[in-house]
Amino acid sequence: MRGMEKVAVMARLLVALVLVVVAPSMGAFVVEENSLSVITPESLQGTYQSAIGNFGVPQYGGTLSGFVVLPKVNFKACDVFPADHFRAKPGARPNFALVDRGDCYFATKVWHAQEAGAAAVLVADNKQEELITMDSPEEDPAASQYLNNISIPSALITKDFADKLKKVLNGNELVTMKLDWRESLPHPDERVEYEFWTNSNDECGPKCDAQVEFVRNFKGVAQILERGGYTQFTPHYITWYCPQAFIESKQCKAQCINNGRYCAPDPEQDFSVGYDGKQVVTENLRQLCVFKVTNETSPRQPWKWWDFVTDFQIRCPMEEKKYGPACAEEVIKSLSIDVEAVRKCMGNPDADEENPILRNEQDAQVGQGTRGDVTLLPTLIVNQRQYRGKLDKTAVLKAICSGYQESTDPPVCLSDSVETNECLDNNGGCWKSGTLTACQDTFRGRICQCPLVSGVQLEGDGYTHCEANGSGRCKVLNGGCWEDTKGDIRYSACQDNQHSGCQCPEGFRGNGTAGADGCVDINECKEKTKCQCSECKCTNTWGSYNCECSGGLLYMQEHDTCINRISSQSKLGLTVSLIVLAGISVLGLGGYVVYKYRLRSYMDSEIRAIMAQYMPLDSQNDSVQTHSQDNDV
Ligand SMILES: *[C@@H]1O[C@H](CO)[C@@H](O)[C@H](O)[C@H]1NC(C)=O
Ligand SMILES: *[C@@H]1O[C@H](CO)[C@@H](O)[C@H](O)[C@H]1NC(C)=O
Ligand SMILES: *[C@@H]1O[C@H](CO)[C@@H](O)[C@H](O)[C@H]1NC(C)=O
Ligand SMILES: *[C@@H]1O[C@H](CO)[C@@H](O)[C@H](O)[C@H]1NC(C)=O
Repeated sequence: MRGMEKVAVMARLLVALVLVVVAPSMGAFVVEENSLSVITPESLQGTYQSAIGNFGVPQYGGTLSGFVVLPKVNFKACDVFPADHFRAKPGARPNFALVDRGDCYFATKVWHAQEAGAAAVLVADNKQEELITMDSPEEDPAASQYLNNISIPSALITKDFADKLKKVLNGNELVTMKLDWRESLPHPDERVEYEFWTNSNDECGPKCDAQVEFVRNFKGVAQILERGGYTQFTPHYITWYCPQAFIESKQCKAQCINNGRYCAPDPEQDFSVGYDGKQVVTENLRQLCVFKVTNETSPRQPWKWWDFVTDFQIRCPMEEKKYGPACAEEVIKSLSIDVEAVRKCMGNPDADEENPILRNEQDAQVGQGTRGDVTLLPTLIVNQRQYRGKLDKTAVLKAICSGYQESTDPPVCLSDSVETNECLDNNGGCWKSGTLTACQDTFRGRICQCPLVSGVQLEGDGYTHCEANGSGRCKVLNGGCWEDTKGDIRYSACQDNQHSGCQCPEGFRGNGTAGADGCVDINECKEKTKCQCSECKCTNTWGSYNCECSGGLLYMQEHDTCINRISSQSKLGLTVSLIVLAGISVLGLGGYVVYKYRLRSYMDSEIRAIMAQYMPLDSQNDSVQTHSQDNDV
C-alpha cells in the first residue's frame, strides 16, 4: 500500500515538473482593484488601493459605505467572533471589519466576520508588497462548507494604509469609508464582451462543482443576453504543453494530444485509474468546436454552447463513466448540431501537427493589456478585466451589467423576468411523446425533466426516455409499454399490478417497450411450437393461432392434440353409468329408509302386544292418541 502511494506521489511530482503552463510568469497576473475612499477623519481623507477577493459578492457597479471596526481580540479572525460583534444597529451605517492577514484562509476570516454581522471585510496585509488577489482555498472540505455562503465583499489593503487606520481607530476616532466598484470594469459601449475560462473536467473538487453549478445557473441569463445581441461571449479552455524533452514519456503520452502540443492534467492525478488528461483535452477541444460550429453556421446560434455544456455535464459525467466521445456526440445530435462539422473542426488528435483551435487558446492565455494571464480556473473576464468574486448568477450578472455604458443596459439587468421559450425549438433536445414533453422553460434556461402526468411522476433521464412508474402507470402512455389494437382485440405489455417494466402478453415476444416492435406476434404455426400433430391444420392469428383437426377429430387445446370423438362418447357412457349408479344408490337409500320404517312399526306393534297383556287399551291402533284424550277429560 505504502509503495503504491509513493508511486502516485512520484507521478504527481512528475506531472508538476513536466507540464508547463503557457503563461510565462505569475508576474503578469492582474489584481482586480476596487477603489476605496476614506470620508472621515479628515487626516485620512483620500482614495486608496484595495484588491477584490476572489470569493464573496463584490457589488460591481455599486458602492457601499460604512464604519470601520477593529475586533478587540481575535485580530486575525481565525476564530469565531461573538454573535453580532460587527453588526450595526438597525438604521445605522453598516460596519466593515478590519482584520489581519495570516494563520488561516482569507475565506475563513471573511466568513467569521460575516457570521458576526460585518457588511464587508478589509484584510490588512502583513508585509509591504504589491497587493495580491485573495483566492478561495482549494480542496479544503472544511472551507467548502461555508465558501458558497459568503455573501459579503472583501478586499485586501496595504500594510501602510492598515497601520494608519488602526492608529486612528485605537484613538477612538470614527472612520467612515466608501467602497466603490463602479469603475472596477470598463463600460465603453452597449455591448459587453466576456469570456469564461473553464474545463470539461467535472471531478476536481469544490472548484469543479462551483463551475458546473455556475454554468447551469447562468445559462438562462447568458442565452438571453447573447440572443439579444447585448453580449459577445467566448468560451476558453486552458491548455498546457509538454516540453520537448519529455514528449516520449508515459506522462505526456497519457495527458497530451497532437504529439505533446496540448495537454491537460489527469483528472484524478493518478495515471493508473479513471480518465487521463488526454481525454480531458479532447473533450475541451470538442466543446470549443461546438462553439465554433454553432457560431459560424447560419443561422448563428453560439448560445447553444451553454446547452451543450450543461447537457454534457448531466448526461456524460465522469462518475458514471460516460465522459467521452460517444456520449458527447449523442448530446450534439440531440441539440441538432452538425456532428460532422464538429469532427472536422477537431481534426486528428493523434497526428503530429498543430491544431489551430487549441493553438489559439494557448495564445489567448497570455494576457494582453489590462487583462493579465489566466492562471486561475475558472476565470471570468468581462470587458477585458478579470472578474473577482463568487461565481454566482446574481453577482456575475451584476458585473456584466456594470459593463454597459449608462442607460444602455439590457432589460435583464433591470429585472430577471425576461422569458424565452426554448422548448419551442426542437423541443429543446428533450424527450417527447405525443403531447407529453420533458422540456421545461425556466429562468435557468430550458431543462429536460420528466413530467408529472395526472399524478404519476414519469422517471428517466429526460433526454431519451421517460416512463411512468408505480401504481396507475398504465394510464399514462401505457407505462411506456407497447400496446396495439386490431379490430376488437387490444393487447398491452403494461400490467398495473407490476411496479415497473413491461412484459409482452402471451402469444407475443419482445422487450415490451413502446414502439411498433416492442412486442411482435409469435407465429406458432411457422415456428412449429403449437398444433403440430399429423392431423392438425394450423393457422396463425394475431396474438394466438387456430388449430383444426382432420378426419372428424376434436382439438384439445390444453393437450395441443387431436382426439377421437368416439373416445369422447365412451366418456359419455361413463357419465351415464355414473348417473345410473347414483340412481341405484338413491334407490338403495330409499329402500333402507322404508325398511327402517317398517322395522319400527313392527317393533311398535310388538311392544303394544306385550303391553296389552298387562293393561287395558282403548284402541289397539293408536295408543298415544288415546292417552292424550284421557288427559283432556
Ligand atoms: C450555507 O447555506 C445553506 C443554505 O442557505 C445552509 O443550509 C447551510 O447550513 C449553510 N452553511 C453554513 C456553514 O452556514
Ligand atoms: C463568433 O462569431 C462572431 C461574429 O461572426 C465573431 O466576431 C467571433 O470572432 C466568433 N468567435 C469565435 C471564437 O469564432
Ligand atoms: C420504479 O419505482 C421503484 C420504487 O418506487 C424503483 O425501485 C424502481 O427502480 C423504479 N423503476 C424505474 C424504471 O425507475
Ligand atoms: C426493445 O426492443 C426494441 C426493438 O427491438 C429496441 O429498439 C429497443 O431499443 C429495445 N429496448 C430496450 C430497453 O432494450
